[in-house]
Amino acid sequence: MKRHLLSASDLSYEDAVLILDTAEELAKLVDGPVKKLPTLRGRTVVNLFYEDSTRTRISFEAAAKRLSADVINFTAKGSSVSKGESLKDTALTLQAMGADAVIVRHSASGAAHQLAASGWIAGSVINAGDGTHEHPSQALLDAFTMRRHLRDSKGDLAGVRVTIVGDVLHSRVARSNVLLLATLGAEVTLVAPPTLMPFGVEQWPCEISYDLDRVLPRTEALMMLRVQGERMNNAFFPSMREYSRGYGLDDKRASALSPEAIVMHPGPMNRGLEISAGAADGLRSVIVEQVANGVSVRMAILYLLLGGASIEEVSL
Ligand code: NCD
Repeated sequence: MKRHLLSASDLSYEDAVLILDTAEELAKLVDGPVKKLPTLRGRTVVNLFYEDSTRTRISFEAAAKRLSADVINFTAKGSSVSKGESLKDTALTLQAMGADAVIVRHSASGAAHQLAASGWIAGSVINAGDGTHEHPSQALLDAFTMRRHLRDSKGDLAGVRVTIVGDVLHSRVARSNVLLLATLGAEVTLVAPPTLMPFGVEQWPCEISYDLDRVLPRTEALMMLRVQGERMNNAFFPSMREYSRGYGLDDKRASALSPEAIVMHPGPMNRGLEISAGAADGLRSVIVEQVANGVSVRMAILYLLLGGASIEEVSL
């Protein structure tokens, strides 16, 4: 496995399966009587967040703490970034504090790559979302969730039909999912209005559709994406109602899914826009599970990148 996790395309099939299997083992351990493992004791993990986050930041923090690492939370608001300090100077400060891993979220696509390539940081860099580009740990937790519900006995997602719907243009979750799911052998279809499909999407390893109702009956995992208003500087669809009518998951559409299908959303949700409350809280929804799985998967990422003690050793 590479030292950094910057893109879902950094992961070979073997790497991806190793992370998912390790997450399964770690989930079993922390579900037992001992919640905390000593494996990263003495290591320092820094959460470097220049953009808002609830789930990702908290779950990386919980993951690091359950592995006994020391965690430093750095949020751009309230730091010297608001005084104009550059990414470089911030990185050098973190390096001086001996960070073994830096988990970075930034509004600029490529920020994590820059941090990793610059040599400013000696430890591992983990991309927790860079602009509209990538969010590989989210793709891993999504694959983990799909595997728990839909996998065959061989344990991969070969042939599983995944549909990703909504604001693909602004979604780093969609791009990372398409790349990882292709590596794992799933069949992905992206559905969005033409204005919310990224330029060059025909080259992505997936199918494209503009008709949600047509793909719903054959879907096994349906992932709804948030309409990212904060990244839209002009109108991408006529009205919220129009968007919901064409691309929202309402109760009627949810009932067109097969009974075994699962409904996913990375959060935060715009209830009533891309997903109805009934669909978000319904029996097929695994949205809360995704959050819980995020901790196990991020534990596995930290554990494998920072080379902790072997799991057998840990479970003794
Ligand atoms: C996503 C993100 O930040 O890219 N959320 C998350 O990490 N759980 C998706 C989004 O913001 O819509």
